Amino acid sequence: MHVIGGTASTSLAERVSRELGNAPFGIPFTKRFPDGEMYVRVGGRLEGEDVVLVQSTRTDADLLELILLEDAIREAGARHLYVVVPYFGYARQDRRFFPGEPVSARALCRVVELDADAVVTVDLHSAQTLTQFTKPAYEASGIPAIARLLRERPVDVLVSPDKGGVERVRRMAQLLEKPWFALDKKRIDSDHVELKIPAELPGTLEGKQLVLVDDVITTGGTMVEAAKLLTKNGAGAVSAACTHGLFLRDAFERIKAVTDEVYSTDTLGNAAEKASVAPDIAEILRRQLPSD
Ligand code: R5P
Repeated sequence: MHVIGGTASTSLAERVSRELGNAPFGIPFTKRFPDGEMYVRVGGRLEGEDVVLVQSTRTDADLLELILLEDAIREAGARHLYVVVPYFGYARQDRRFFPGEPVSARALCRVVELDADAVVTVDLHSAQTLTQFTKPAYEASGIPAIARLLRERPVDVLVSPDKGGVERVRRMAQLLEKPWFALDKKRIDSDHVELKIPAELPGTLEGKQLVLVDDVITTGGTMVEAAKLLTKNGAGAVSAACTHGLFLRDAFERIKAVTDEVYSTDTLGNAAEKASVAPDIAEILRRQLPSD
């Protein structure tokens, strides 16, 4: 198996290649033509090979690069192409909220799978998006990666910043054998949220080491308000952990100012990238992919 890392996921792709027993790893050549159009070229002998392409689609340019790389890998004669999209952009628009809108997640599924034999992604905004692929599609979870990291850290209680994250925090709590609870969250607008401590708690928060667990940190508003609330209610230390760390604008600094640690996985490159999903992606590539 060959692993190719697009510019959005070079480090993670290299980690995946190591997890696959040091599979041959390549970084494509990319440049822009004078008119702004993108150019890519893959190297190595890919004819008849099974190729894994890793590229998060955080920006439109990342998506375009993915499309061009898929075509280049097919042109190079790959036998199978497995496309890994660690952070799948546009996944939040997973339904039509108002007349005239697209189901962007579905539209992206169609494009991403076009040249692929299978698609692997990590913690989609909604699991239902996986059903929009017509090719075999798999979802790795960022929870085991964060749990591996937290095993080495002091943790008393895990906290989801909202009820939507109950399954996530419950699974993390099972892996770490720790208690958990979820805050009550009301979103005011895309930058502001209101949070409350629930009536039922697994014991006192006084002096406890609390870890907030979320799928994505975007503006950081949720984590900032959650950390402040937990500290006000007596927490001894508060850390923030997520799978996808987008950290828009000064989100990372704002969260850091009100927490003891900030952790994210490596689905996106950022300053909090301390846990790797490479073993979890490699596990799917080794065990679950269709081979014919
Ligand atoms: C919401 O459903 C998600 O799980 C996150 O809590 C949310 O997207 C985080 O956004 P922000 O960092 O902008 O508060």
